[in-house]
This record gives sequence, structure tokens and C-alpha cells, in this order.
Amino acid sequence: MQKYVINTKKQKAQIDRNIYGHFSEHLGRCIYEGLYVGEDSDVPNVDGMRTDVVEALKAMGLPLLRWPGGCFADEYHWKDGIGPKENRKKMINTHWGGVVEDNSFGTHEFMRLCQLLECEPYINGNVGSGTVQEMSEWVEYMTFDGLSPMAKLREENGQKDAWKVKYFGVGNENWGCGGNMRPEYYADLYRRYQTYTRNYGDNRLFKIAGGPNVDDYNWTKVLMEIAGPYMDGLSLHFYTFVNSWEDKGSATQMTEKDYYRVLKNTWRMEELVTKHSHIMDKYDPQKRVALVVDEWGTWYEVEPGTNPGFLYQQNSMRDALVAGINLNIFNKHADRVRMANIAQLVNVLQSVILTEGEKMIKTPTYHVFDMYQEHQDNQLVESYITTPDLDVDGVKVPAMTESASVNGDGHLVLTLCNLDLHEERRIDADTLGFNPKKVTGHIITGAMDAYNTFEEPELVKKEAFDQVELKESGFTMTLPTCSVVRLILE
Ligand code: AHR
Repeated sequence: MQKYVINTKKQKAQIDRNIYGHFSEHLGRCIYEGLYVGEDSDVPNVDGMRTDVVEALKAMGLPLLRWPGGCFADEYHWKDGIGPKENRKKMINTHWGGVVEDNSFGTHEFMRLCQLLECEPYINGNVGSGTVQEMSEWVEYMTFDGLSPMAKLREENGQKDAWKVKYFGVGNENWGCGGNMRPEYYADLYRRYQTYTRNYGDNRLFKIAGGPNVDDYNWTKVLMEIAGPYMDGLSLHFYTFVNSWEDKGSATQMTEKDYYRVLKNTWRMEELVTKHSHIMDKYDPQKRVALVVDEWGTWYEVEPGTNPGFLYQQNSMRDALVAGINLNIFNKHADRVRMANIAQLVNVLQSVILTEGEKMIKTPTYHVFDMYQEHQDNQLVESYITTPDLDVDGVKVPAMTESASVNGDGHLVLTLCNLDLHEERRIDADTLGFNPKKVTGHIITGAMDAYNTFEEPELVKKEAFDQVELKESGFTMTLPTCSVVRLILE
């Protein structure tokens, strides 16, 4: 029997809903086909946005969407994506498959998508190949309400009212595809570019600096030292491979060892968030600057027969556990991690949705986001579970992870993962300061390599879960093998 203690009296921080954010890039079939099919498509749409996908994403509680990249952002020139579509400049998407980008999805389309999704836009500006003036004018175009050259241009393009844009990224991966810069150089550029991204009217920008790659702690140190006071957020990117960047492994063909390797590699997020936060604490003890994990998730070899530049991969129960582990980590670091964006929303890397023509399926990762949405904006409470470490051929990883929060109605929301493929776990939980009268449970479980297909779209899905017995100030439960569970206690 494992002991689980949840202390509802110890509220630690608010879980920012933006921890449940997503990322959409002009990459493969994410924007085109996945989200946007155009007004004339046979696929049911509103202003070109797929109705089925929009509805599914709203039900999942998507709070925020990052766009237009990624590496694409530092090659994107926003003026190419406005005005009559037939006049829009075509370009080659050199990063992703060398295909023609016709710019038919631009600023107006993205803002319309966010409106339909009822989510916050997070725009990523171009530092790598764009000018200060270009970035400054984009912010003016989107947010200036009054008489100005960019506001006039916006109106000529059909949008009289300024949009509200809060989240703005000043470059992406500037240590790599965003310009191959050194941290000192980027930190100075960041200071310069952000100066001209203005707050117009009552629009207030939340400025996010391009942060470190994985464990580049020096990047975090230098950025905080030189540019800390000028930023509201610092990004962190970390992807999970089966083995390494050079040997990413398959999304669906896996041995048990591969399964545990991916989960162990995922666990590294705990160390990364902790260590980057410690460095940030030195320069920002008040935790004013958010750590924004704006790219995370699994990155495997592409599905056989698909364009290698499109990063299209399947998504299994293993990915559901990757999502569950990461989201529990982010919740537990809610004092510093105030935004995270899984890569990417549709048809690219660890997607929540896959599409094929008119068809759409929800992946196991979708169901994890769906269950975990109950944590959004809740108070994180102190919690601890005694978990053994699994050791499979030298691959060591904790058997369970969890996080706990209290919502506005005083209900307790718990999310637990059992990584173990062979042993279910009996759990004895004490909910200090809380006497549960009712429990509602949901689960996603299956074989480690189970996944949904267009032929069998609901092999892995969220189901009701009732293996919980309430007791005075707590409960006992059985956590099945290879599962992600959400409990709501009232
Ligand atoms: O998500 C795919 C790519 O990964 C992004 O474009 C880039 O920022 C990162 O390297």
C-alpha cells in the first residue's frame, strides 16, 4: 500500500491556466489542413477554420495558442500575410519540408482562430531575420486603436478595432534556428527589440525572451543578468526522444525498455525546471519573471511514408503518460512556471488531434489535457506520494506521479499517473483539512503502444473510473497499470 498525503491547508500557488497552452507552427499539416482548410473547402468550416477541430479543442479547455513558430517565426515577415489573399507573397518554408507557403493564413486568420477557440493569442516575433521596425509595426498593427499608419492599414484590411494581444515572444531559439547567437549578443538584441514593442491604449504586453535549450544554464544566467528587468517571461524548450536527437525512435514500435526510457527522459523536466528556476531566483527572488516552457513533448521519427520535414507522428498511451508526468511537474512548479505549450497542436509532433481529409481523431494526449483542464486557475496544494522507483534493465524511473489542487468551489482535484506496466498500486490517501463526501473519477489506460487510428478512433479514450473508496479525511484506491487518472473530491 502506498501512502498519499494531500494537505489542503497548505496552498502553494495558483496554477496558471496557460500551463495548458498549445503551439501551432507553419509546419507540415498543422496550420494548413489541420486547423485551416480555407473558406471554399468541403470540410465543414467557419471562415476557413475546421469546425470539428475547433469544437474538440474548445471542449479540451485550450486557454492559449502560440503562433507562427518555432523556427518559422524567425523567417516570417508578417506583412506577407495580410491583405487580399491573391496578392499575398509566396515563400519557401525552408525549415519545414521546402514547401510553398502561400501566406493565406496570416495575422487576421490567426486572430479569428483564437476568437473561435476563445483562447488567448501568443504571437512570436522575428528577431533572427526581421528588423526592429518590422516587429514594432506588427505590435502597432495589432493593438493600436486610433490614427496611425498601421492602424489604418489594419482597417483597410477589414479590421477596424484593435485586437488585444498580451503574450509576445521576442524571437525563438536564438541560440539555434533563430540566429545562432551567443547569449550576451541576444540579450542585448532582446533589450533593443523589446523597447519598440509598445503598450498602446490599455493593451499591456507580456514580453517573453527566447530562453535556453534544455540544460544550457549559462544562457539563463546571462539572460537574467543582462535582460531580466526587461522581460516578463523566459522560455525553455525541451523535447523527449526515445534515445537522442540522432536516434529519436519510433512512435508506435516499442519495447518495454523503450517505453521506460521515454518516461525516464520525460522526468528530466523536473530537474530542468528546478535548476533554471534556481538561477532565476538569484536575479528575481520575487518570481516576477515566468518560466515559459513554450515547447515540450515527444519527438519521434516521422510516420513511414510521410514527408520527413512535416514531423507527423502517431501518439500512444506512452505519450499520454508523457503528458501526465509533464503537466504534474508544471503544476507543482506553478510559482515559477506560468505558461507551457506542448508541441504541437495538430498533425505535428505530440499532437492532441490528427486529421486525414475530412476525418479527425483525438489522441491519448488529448484525453490527458481534457482531464487535467480541471486544474486550471486552481490553488496548488501540498501533496506527496510514496512511490517506489522502477528499474528496468538499468532504466530507473519513479512508478507514480501526482499533483493536487483546490478549485473555486473548494473541491479537490487530483491527477495521478502509474507508469508501471505490470503492477497496479494500492493507495491509501489522507486529505488533511478535507472530508470528502463524493468522488468522481476518470481514467485513460491501455497497452503502452495502444493508439487511435482513423479506422479505430476510440481505442484509447477517457472513461469513468470508480475504484475509489472514501474514508474519513481521505480515501483508498487502486491505480491500474499504465494509466492516467483524475479524481474530483467534493
Ligand atoms: O516544434 C518544432 C521545432 O522545434 C520548432 O520550430 C523549433 O522552435 C524547435 O526546434
